[in-house]
Amino acid sequence: MEKIGFGVIGAGIWGNSHAWIYSTEPFSELIAVCDKVEEKAKILAEKYHARRWYTDPEKMLKDPEIQAVGIATPDFAHREPFVAACQAGKHILLEKPLATNHEDLKFMKTAYEKSGVRVMVDFHARWNPPLVVAKKNIDQGTIGEIISMYYRLNDTIYVPTQMLSWAEESSILWFLGSHTVDTLRFLSGKEVKRVYSVSRAEVLVKLGVNVPDIYQSVLEMEDGIIASIENNWIIPNSHPNWNDIKLNILGSKGMFNMDLTNNQAIERYLPEKSDHPDILVMPTIHGKPSGFAHESIRDFIHRLRTSEKFVVDFEDGYRVSKVILAIMESAKTRMPVEVTYNS
Ligand SMILES: NC(=O)c1ccc[n+]([C@@H]2O[C@H](COP(=O)([O-])OP(=O)(O)OC[C@H]3O[C@@H](n4cnc5c(N)ncnc54)[C@H](O)[C@@H]3O)[C@@H](O)[C@H]2O)c1
Repeated sequence: MEKIGFGVIGAGIWGNSHAWIYSTEPFSELIAVCDKVEEKAKILAEKYHARRWYTDPEKMLKDPEIQAVGIATPDFAHREPFVAACQAGKHILLEKPLATNHEDLKFMKTAYEKSGVRVMVDFHARWNPPLVVAKKNIDQGTIGEIISMYYRLNDTIYVPTQMLSWAEESSILWFLGSHTVDTLRFLSGKEVKRVYSVSRAEVLVKLGVNVPDIYQSVLEMEDGIIASIENNWIIPNSHPNWNDIKLNILGSKGMFNMDLTNNQAIERYLPEKSDHPDILVMPTIHGKPSGFAHESIRDFIHRLRTSEKFVVDFEDGYRVSKVILAIMESAKTRMPVEVTYNS
């Protein structure tokens, strides 16, 4: 079977994961890497033995050996490479969130609908084993009708202050809140109808990073489901894992409780500190990229090859961005906001 030729756009932290997988899976081949910073494109291309590197996505997209691209540019910079890939007829695995404003969403939807390319948005939590087990139970009716959901998904302060140079141009809602909303839609199979949110901007602003610390939001979903979500990126760096994840799903006949980070599957105690090393997200196992954050990329290659429906598609990404925009509007106006998907 022929290999699918891949290009990666955005040679940063997550572009590395894309390049690693495309260059090591049996049915994909890493043809080229593109980053607007040439040195980054060159280093990543050389690391994973890509044939070429580029600084201009449009130039790379003319490459006939490339059939699909992984786009891992910063949250606010997805539109330009996405639209260019649609116009070039390349299939797309786009990092979350799909887009961070209404105008980009509109442009991207038009480009996608005209193109005929296949698009997956990388909401990799849909491959997280505990969530998949819960989803299966929910679909089988094991816990009855969903009454409410509580989902707290937070990051350490390292992320906006040291890891992401572009934190101010994104927010914790885009960076993790988009996963939160997608996961609740995935688990319940229901859409968000109305939101109410409150946010605070204290800690990061004082550190010179001009972006809110936290959003606490209530989501009213179809069938009367109430969801409470918390997203902050100011938890102390001493936290035993870079994420703080707690999830509760209350059904009419049963309930799920999940502690996906501070669970006791593995605890490491060192002279000066203790932590909970990653076992689920992206551990390297016998030299290979493992964990659910890598599994989603692998699944994209697989479904592209077999023509199976993607687990998470353009419409999911579009709807999640619409919900996040409504949450932001609510936090700004301190009023409940109806989510509109058609504007
Ligand atoms: N860092 C993570 O843990 C993580 C995890 C999952 C998903 N993501 C998502 O992946 C995306 C990338 O995040 P990251 O952490 O890798 O960011 P990053 O800042 O490490 O890398 C982004 C790269 O994109 C390049 N770039 C920017 N605009 C470009 C353009 N127009 N054309 C070509 N290259 C361009 C930058 O030079 C940079 O090298 C984001 O949407 C993010 O939400 C990140």
